[in-house]
Order: sequence, then structure tokens, then C-alpha cells
Amino acid sequence: MDSPVSLSSAQEALPGVKPPAGQSITPWLIVVLVVVLFSGGLFGYDQGVISGALHGIKATFALSPLIIEVVTSWVTLGALFGALAGGELADRIGRQRTVLIAGALFTLGSLIQALAPDTVILVAGRLVVGAGVGVAAVAAPLYAAELAPTTWRGRFVSAYQLAITVGIFLAYLIDGWLSKSDAWRWMLGASAVPGLLLFGVALVAPESPRWLMKMGRRDDAATQITKIRPGVEFKPRLEAIELALQQEGGHAAWGAVFRSEWRRPLMIGIGLAVFQQITGINAIIYYADQIFAAAGFMTQSSQTTVTTWAIGAVNVLATLIAIAYIDRVGRRILLLAGLIGMGASLVVVGVTFQFIGRAVASTGPSTAGIVTLIALVGFIISFAFSMGPVTWTVINEIFPGHIRGRAVAVATAVNWGSAFLVSQSFLSLIAAIGISATFGLFALFCGVTWIWVYYRVPETKGQSLEQIQQIWHKADR
Ligand code: BGC
Repeated sequence: MDSPVSLSSAQEALPGVKPPAGQSITPWLIVVLVVVLFSGGLFGYDQGVISGALHGIKATFALSPLIIEVVTSWVTLGALFGALAGGELADRIGRQRTVLIAGALFTLGSLIQALAPDTVILVAGRLVVGAGVGVAAVAAPLYAAELAPTTWRGRFVSAYQLAITVGIFLAYLIDGWLSKSDAWRWMLGASAVPGLLLFGVALVAPESPRWLMKMGRRDDAATQITKIRPGVEFKPRLEAIELALQQEGGHAAWGAVFRSEWRRPLMIGIGLAVFQQITGINAIIYYADQIFAAAGFMTQSSQTTVTTWAIGAVNVLATLIAIAYIDRVGRRILLLAGLIGMGASLVVVGVTFQFIGRAVASTGPSTAGIVTLIALVGFIISFAFSMGPVTWTVINEIFPGHIRGRAVAVATAVNWGSAFLVSQSFLSLIAAIGISATFGLFALFCGVTWIWVYYRVPETKGQSLEQIQQIWHKADR
């Protein structure tokens, strides 16, 4: 294996590889960004929309509790398997064509759900949409990370997170508007339109030069680089990618993902995926209405309004903080600062629920209820500039090229698995240990995550994907 130092110094000496040359945004990079935004938006929308649709579905089909659970949660299941398949596809047929498949799955799944004559077809539609979510969750950020200029990479992947939050927010809004008429078919079918648009944009979008090089298609890679970043000398870029691929050894089987050589990035990817979920985000995203009801927001409309704006809109706005700072202050500072905010907010929620618990029959939100609301907003802001976008950014930049698709797929599937477990166990956890202790547990996980990030997660800002690999080589020496 070549000396790790040779790659860094080779890249530093090469024009067009390091910033500022070749770091500007070109029209084709905008196309990449549009693909990423649609993928993230659909992920968020299809995850968020079901809560508002359930009421109408129950009225149409007279569902048993088991089927209600299946209809709700099988998107997550589909996403888990979709993510694994997405990694395989992304490595085999390319990033761009995998996004194309995600677009087709979103469109098909939305239409199946909207037109479902019975629950079996409805559940099939949920699975197809879930598969689309999983495939897109792997392919889109991977695509963003590989195509973005180094100094924009964090912002590109954070744009994906921004789109997820916009999707969740739109789902809350559309649910709010359509819930009066129980128009669940429109709620679920609405995502066919952006699904089709994603398909259309992905059709003309460029393929990742890194993937083309991995497949030995050097000429195609050169064509894509010249197209995506006109004015950038493609030869040095190709040489840097080639050198990194040689160093990695070139084997792309599933077994390579779990080789001891890559244990460190794999542990970081999986760790971030798990910690992102067990610190409680989706307990709050999925159950916001119930939490606000417990905090004294009595009417359905007050709960929906607070959830839409205090959770949904704040989540979108605070993600902009990450976009502004992720490539400037770096990933670690955002993570460490955000985790402190998340942990502190959860402690406040845990404490205020002690007081709310004692004054249950209030006529509206008490002071403790208002403090809970403020603390939850604090949690969402802190998550939105840290564990939300940084998790996806780091997962998509730490793995060597020859296993990137599959390794990202493993981390993404673990993320969905953890989301499934947390959302399934949240209500039973509250029943078993109480709401205060449940939030206390999430706060404890924030503390554990902080320590783990401090000692384990390296800074990756401003380094090319090839340079990041040197971190693991250096750690071996
Ligand atoms: C997470 C989702 C979560 C969303 C909230 C994403 O990064 O992966 O599980 O619902 O953020 O904004």
C-alpha cells in the first residue's frame, strides 16, 4: 500500500483539487442539488404524512389495531430494506440511476396508496413508498457528497436534511388542511407529483465521476467532470481518485464493509445513526401532538398548530444554521454544541412534566406547559443544527470509495431500525417509567453521545473524500 502521505501531498500540489479552484457552483451542480432536495423532501413528507391520514383511513376501511400499526410502521420497514438494496444498487448501477429508481418507487407507491381499494393494496403501497424512502436515503446524500466541491460538501448534504425538514413541515401543513374533509387519498397521493419530478430531474442529472472511476470508466468520468465543473482540470482529479481507489484495494464485496481496516469509520457511521435516534428526535416528531396534549394544550387544533409551527417550522429554520456553519466551524463543534442544547432541553422537559403531572386538570397550558413548549423548541433547534444534518454528512464522507455505497446503506438501515424501535417503544416506555424519566433517559443518551463524539468523531471539514481516508490510515500507524 502506498504511503498515506503521498496522497495528501499529491493533492495539495495539484491545481484544481484543493479550494478555491473548482469550488464554485455550476448549473449542473444545481441539478444535483435539485435531486437532493426532492429526495429529502419526499423522505420527510412520506414519513410525516401518515399521522394525519390515519383518521380518514380508519373511517374508510374499519381497521383493526394491528393493521393500523402495520399501515403506520411499514414505511419504516420498507425503508430499512430499501436502504440495504439502495447501497447495493448505488454501487452496482451508479448513484444517478439509483435515484431514478427511488423517484419511480415514490411515484408508484403514492399512486398505489391513493387508489387502494382495500387494506392489502394500501399496505403494499406503504411498503413501496418505504422502499423509495430507503433507496433515496442512501443514494441522494451519497450522490451529494460525491459531487459537491469539497468546501461545499457539508452544505450539500445539509441541504438534504433541510429538505427532510421541509417535507415533514409540509406533511403537517397538508394534514392540517385536509384533515377536516378526511381526504386521506389526497394526502398520501400528493407525493406522486414530486416523485415524478424527481424521476425527471434524475433522468438528466450527471453520474458521479467517483463511481465511474470505480467502475473503470475513466473517459466517462472525465466527461462528467468537465460537464459538472467546466474550467477545472480533470486529470489531477482523476489521478487523486485513482490513487485513493488503488490504496483501498478495490474489492467491493459486502464482506469488505466489515473488514477490520474500516472498523473505525463503520463504528462512527453506525454510532451516529443510532445516537441520532436514541436521543429522542422521532419520539418528538411523531408524538408531538400527544406531548403537547399532556402539557395542557387541550384542543386538537391548538395541538396541531403548535406541532406545525413550534416543531415543523422551527426544524426547517434551524437547519439553516447548519447550512451556514457546517463547512466553516466544522462538524464537531456543531455536534458538541447541539448535544448540550438537546440534553439541557430534555432535562427541562423532564422536570416540567413533574409539575404538569401534579396539575392535570388545568384548562389550558400552565406555566409548566409553556416552559415545556419552549424547551421542546430548544431541543428541535439544537437537533436541527447538529445531530440532524451532521449525522448524514459524516456518514456520507467517512467511507472509502469502494465500499461507500454499501457502508452508507448499513448505517442508514441501522438508523431506520433505531427509529422504528424508538417510535414503537416510546409510549410503552412512558407507561412503564413515566414521561419525566423517559425524557431523562433521552437526556442521558445525549450525555453519552457527547462523550463519544468528543473522543471518537474526527473533524472532516475542508478535506476531500480521498484525504479523509488518510485519517484511518494514520490511526493504524
Ligand atoms: C432523521 C429523521 C428525523 C429528521 C427530523 C433526520 O435527520 O434521520 O429520523 O425525523 O431528521 O428532522
